[in-house]
Amino acid sequence: MTTRHFLSLMDLSADEILSIVQRAIELKQLGKSAPKTLEDHTMAMVFEKSSTRTRTSFDIGMTQLGGHSMFLAPGDSQIQRGEPIKDTARVLSRMVDVIVMRTTAHDRVSTMAEYASVPVINALCDRYHPCQLLADLQTFAEHRGEIRGQTFAWIGDGNNVCHSWMNAARQLDFKLNIATPAGFEPNADLIEACRDHIQIGNDPVTAAQGARCVITDTWASMGQEEEKAEREAAFSGFCVDDALMKQAEEDAIFMHCLPAYRGFEVSESVLEGPQSVVWDEAENRLHAQKALLELLLLG
Ligand code: CP
Ligand code: NVA
Repeated sequence: MTTRHFLSLMDLSADEILSIVQRAIELKQLGKSAPKTLEDHTMAMVFEKSSTRTRTSFDIGMTQLGGHSMFLAPGDSQIQRGEPIKDTARVLSRMVDVIVMRTTAHDRVSTMAEYASVPVINALCDRYHPCQLLADLQTFAEHRGEIRGQTFAWIGDGNNVCHSWMNAARQLDFKLNIATPAGFEPNADLIEACRDHIQIGNDPVTAAQGARCVITDTWASMGQEEEKAEREAAFSGFCVDDALMKQAEEDAIFMHCLPAYRGFEVSESVLEGPQSVVWDEAENRLHAQKALLELLLLG
């Protein structure tokens, strides 16, 4: 079997993405009685940034499938002391069956994949967060069914999670309305690649209109802590609150990858309100990643 990596949603076909969503729903129903399909498999998690959901969901997911995982925290491995990623990739490949990496620049995780002889999964980098999207698509499918042809709205920063939503739109053929403040648009190459499936502007109200799902994320991602004050000023008017949710379809759901900052990108009332599916979304990280691990490791 050739080694398959998952660095972005473009590494899977549309059918594979949908089959992961279906398998994730199945694995969720099976819970702890799911078959131990990954018995004797081991996973290394190399994290260069903080994490609550991604770390725990990969670790527990591997355990539920009968495998074993080990966590190399930021600062724990020799990478932080200067060992090249290409050396780390070859050493870990001699010992584990899969490498999960959370890092800064995309080229760090792509270098890991280039030199690894086992699958490498991108657990977030500055450009993408593809694992988040598998869970988000599962969550939409559970709450609203068919994904293809729907309209989604991204309100906020044109960041890594937004980029992965853009890839999802072109892979699964849905429409993504994006509203960001001027200067915080997604990367130009992705706007060009996804142009048939996205609509970009600077007005949250226009973006929310017609959407069956409204999504946002923090205004200052990991690594942008020093820009926080400047970003809070630039993003004023971009809080997803009750008034903005009213612009979307009546049965629209609200998603946020978390962690959320109440009173900034989302109001307390929307996050905790009846349209919010954020806790399902967080739980689905576990099931979607089990389905991903099965696909990459078992085919
Ligand atoms: N959504 C997400 O990736 O959360 P963590 O940063 O806690 O892993
Ligand atoms: N955009 C956020 C997502 C956190 C899960 C970040 O990169 O920090």
